[in-house]
Parts: sequence; structure tokens; C-alpha cells
Amino acid sequence: METTGKIVGVNGNMITVAFDGAVAQNEVGYACVGQDGTVQRLMSEIVRIRSRLADMQVFEDTRGLQVGDAVIFNGHLLSAELGPGLLKQIYDGLQNPLPQLAAQCGFFLQRGTYLHALNRTSKWDFTPTAKPGDRLTAGETLGTVPEGIFKHRIMVPFVLRGAFTVKNTAPAGAYTVEQEVAVLTDSEGKDHSVTMMQRWPVKLPVTCFAERLMPADTMTTRIRPVDTFFPVALGGTYCIPGPFGAGKTVLQQITSRYADVDIVVLAACGERAGEVVETLREFPELADPRTGKTLMDRTVIICNTSSMPVAAREASVYTAVTIASYYRQMGLNVLLLADSTSRWAQALRELSGRLEEIPGEEAFPAYLESLIANFYERAGLVRLKDGTTGSVTIGGTVSPAGGNFDEPVTQATLKVVGAFHGLSRARSDARRFPAIDPLERWSKYKSIIEQERVPKRAIEELRSAESLKPLADLGMRNPIKLDEIGRICESAVRQVCAQHPLHEQYLETSRANRARIASELSGPVYDLAVSGNYFPESLAA
Ligand SMILES: Nc1ncnc2c1ncn2[C@@H]1O[C@H](COP(=O)(O)OP(=O)(O)O)[C@@H](O)[C@H]1O
Ligand SMILES: [Mg+2]
Repeated sequence: METTGKIVGVNGNMITVAFDGAVAQNEVGYACVGQDGTVQRLMSEIVRIRSRLADMQVFEDTRGLQVGDAVIFNGHLLSAELGPGLLKQIYDGLQNPLPQLAAQCGFFLQRGTYLHALNRTSKWDFTPTAKPGDRLTAGETLGTVPEGIFKHRIMVPFVLRGAFTVKNTAPAGAYTVEQEVAVLTDSEGKDHSVTMMQRWPVKLPVTCFAERLMPADTMTTRIRPVDTFFPVALGGTYCIPGPFGAGKTVLQQITSRYADVDIVVLAACGERAGEVVETLREFPELADPRTGKTLMDRTVIICNTSSMPVAAREASVYTAVTIASYYRQMGLNVLLLADSTSRWAQALRELSGRLEEIPGEEAFPAYLESLIANFYERAGLVRLKDGTTGSVTIGGTVSPAGGNFDEPVTQATLKVVGAFHGLSRARSDARRFPAIDPLERWSKYKSIIEQERVPKRAIEELRSAESLKPLADLGMRNPIKLDEIGRICESAVRQVCAQHPLHEQYLETSRANRARIASELSGPVYDLAVSGNYFPESLAA
């Protein structure tokens, strides 16, 4: 029998429900609100349980909800539907396919309308690979279906614990995601029917692999400064903090196009809708540089913009990482880009305030750090049970107010990520894109170019050029010192940019000008390295 409850309190998008029966933390329930003679069911999630009372966040507008309204619990944790058909899709935070939703309700989404994430009628060509008698565990392959350019593995559902014997598999042919494609027998002799679709609770990491590996290979992004100085490893994590308008979104979009990965999951979380619209318009028309087909063929977009319910932002990042982990189980390299994690943190702050918890720094919940860490920890390179490897790389933007990196979300993120691509206002104002400041940013991962040859040296040169600046300034005012400064600068310049036009200019110009040129070098040196002139052969690709 399903558990039901009655609303005893409404506070913004949080409701308090007195329930009968059993419920679980993160279980989904539907608050029923009567409107114009129809009943709308609003999806909600239990965030706290206190004896017979459950606090739930409603993922929709709570207008009209009243004390006494009924809540029906569905017995499942907040979960994502996984199966063929996820690629190319555009979902909202609760995994409703937005194009279908728009077709059904028009451009203004109505609350309380939920659709299946996976199409129930389209058929997929299933080819069994497991044989009757095979012993399999969760995450191992039963068969495959082609999905775009990928072989989508139909796996033993992740929720099944223990070893199973394959009783039978369906013959090769076309099936819908709800049709049975295999029957598994557990150790007690009980049969389990398996379809192409499975569900997984989004807040739990998917762990059906053999082992986690240390990320070693660089994920080439084809953005030179990133690949040279602040590389990201396949299966690693990085963050892009930056003030408003510094180019975070653009940097992520470029990465999503050119990064050397199989699948990209874009989670637009709480940012303005206009930016997402750009992606939605452009992606279907852009050709994937690797396959020549449209980029959309290997992309999943989870879209919960600032105009959509705030509570669903949290669901959207978790849904995105769950879909990414699902494709990792197929031995693919997946890149998850979240824009912006600050908006998610703001949703958490709102919820924490409603729960009347003791606030931490800047009123964010005291456990903000562990939530952010848990999210980034879901990235990783793993060896699957069949010996192949797959990875999830997570890159999140952070939008601190005023570009102040000392605020809690940036700081909590910096503690866990492997690379820091902070953008600087000064560089973006000077329209030097990507506006990553070379001196303050770092990466713990190995670059594709030998450390000894490029990044370290270039950064050192930059530092020394930077430290020469005051000297050069002094030199402008004090001609007596010019000689000496000229010498220091000259050697610095020789080392740093032997192949740059500035160098010629430097040699031809008068002494007074030399000091000025040297002082200007810190910027150009970096740009040189970035443009490839500095290390031409190593960056030829
Ligand atoms: N790599 C780039 N090349 C050229 N212009 C850029 C680049 N990155 C950002 N810009 C410019 O900066 C503007 C703001 O970038 P955006 O990514 O939307 O900022 P943010 O997401 O940090 O608020 C863009 O509209 C574009 O004009
Ligand atoms: Mg942006």
C-alpha cells in the first residue's frame, strides 16, 4: 500500500507533511493541489524526517498548496531513467524531455506535467552478447544496441546486488525500452526480468566497476593555454571561477565542442536562459570535429535555467552526473560541464534557510563543502568489470559575486578539484580570451607537453618578467640604473621571446624604450606561449 500524508505547513517551496507508514530520506512524493477542478500533482522530495513529519522540497511553484492537501509517496528515491535514447535529448532538472513537453503544453510549461524521459514507443535494435548460463553482476553487458555512433551497452541493472545467472536473452531484434530483453536468476533461484531501461537514484554514485584508477591521460581541449599550462586529465575535475561576463560560459562551450571525449553532458544550472538557447540553436548545426555529424548526436543537455524552479537545480546537477556515469559504464569518456555550480549552491542556501539550520559562512549551509566534494568525487577514471576503461571528467563554473574568489563556493570547490582555471576581469576587459590568468592558476595534472620543456619554464619566465616590472618602472625614472636594468631585461627577453616581433623591436629601439618593452612583456610572453610562436614544434597540432 502506498504511503500518504497531509500537508501541515507550507513555507515557500518547502512543505511539512505528516505521513502514515514508511518513508525514506530523498523519497519522492507528489503534493496534490486542486486547481480549476483538476488536481495537479507536484513532484517533491523528502529532505528531512522528524518522527512523523517529513520536510519536503517541492520542485514546482507551490501557489495554491494548502494545509490539509494530500501527499502521495511513490516509494522511490529521486532517480533518473537510463537507457538508449538519452543522447541528443534536452531535459529539464527532473529529466522531463523539454521538446516533447513543449509539444504537449506549448511554450509556457505547466506545473505538474511530467513525461517519460525515454521514449516508450521507439524501437532499438538489440543484439544479445550474454549467453544462457553466464554468471554476471551489476554493470556487466547483456547485449548492445546502436545509438548514434556508439554501441550502447544494455547492462545488468545497477541496483541488482550479487551474482546472477543468465536464464535467457531475447533474440536479436527491435524492442522498446520497456520490453523484456533478458531474464536473470539470482542465487536464491528467483527470476528477474531485465529491460533496456533502468532507474538509478541520482544522489548515489554508480559503483559497478572493478576499480578506480588514477587519472593519467590528458583530456585535450584544443584550447592551447589550457592544454599547455593547466591541463585537465580524463577522469579529473576542474573549475572555472570568474566574474560575470569573463567568459566562463563561452570557455565551456568551446570545450564541449573540441574536447577529446566521446560524450558531453551539459548541465545548465540556474544561468540565464538566453545562453542555453544559444547552445540549443547552435549544437544541432555544428559538425562534430571528430565524426562530421552534428554535435548534438553525442550531447545530452540538462537545462534548468534561472526562470525555472530553483529547487530543481539540485536535481539537475545530480541527474547530469548520473547520466554521465551511466555512459562511463559503457567504456566511454564522458565530459560533464556544469554552469554554474554557484546557482546550485544558492538553491542549497535557500533550502537550508527554510529548514532553519544554523548557517555557515555567507549563510550557505555548514555542509556545503562536503556536498560539493561529493559531487566532484563522482568524476573519475575507472576500470570496468570487462577490463575496458571509462571516465567522467567534471568541469564546473563558479560565479562568485564581483569575482571574489574568497567566497565559500569557490573555496570549497578549490579544495577538491584538480585544476583551477580562474578567469580574470583584467584579461577579459583587455579581450584576451580565454581570460585565464597565467600566474595565479594551477593544475595538478600532467600536460601533453613535457613539463620540463614548456609549462614550468614559461611560467617561470613570466614570473621573472613580472618581477622585473618594478625594476623597469624604476628605470624609467632613474636613467643611471638603466644600463644594468637593460642588461637584465635583455637576457630575460632573449630567453623569453627570441621568436617574437617584440624582440626585433627591442633590439632596434633606444634604451629608454627597452625598459618599457620589458615591463610590457609579462602579458605578451604568455600570449606568445599561447599562440604557439614560443614553442612552435611542440604545439604544432
Ligand atoms: N573565448 C572567447 N573569445 C571571444 N569572446 C569571448 C570569449 N569568451 C568570452 N567572450 C566574450 O565575453 C562575453 C561574455 O562571456 P560569457 O561566457 O557569457 O561570460 P560568463 O559566463 O562568465 O558570464 C561573450 O559574450 C563574448 O563576447
Ligand atoms: Mg555564463
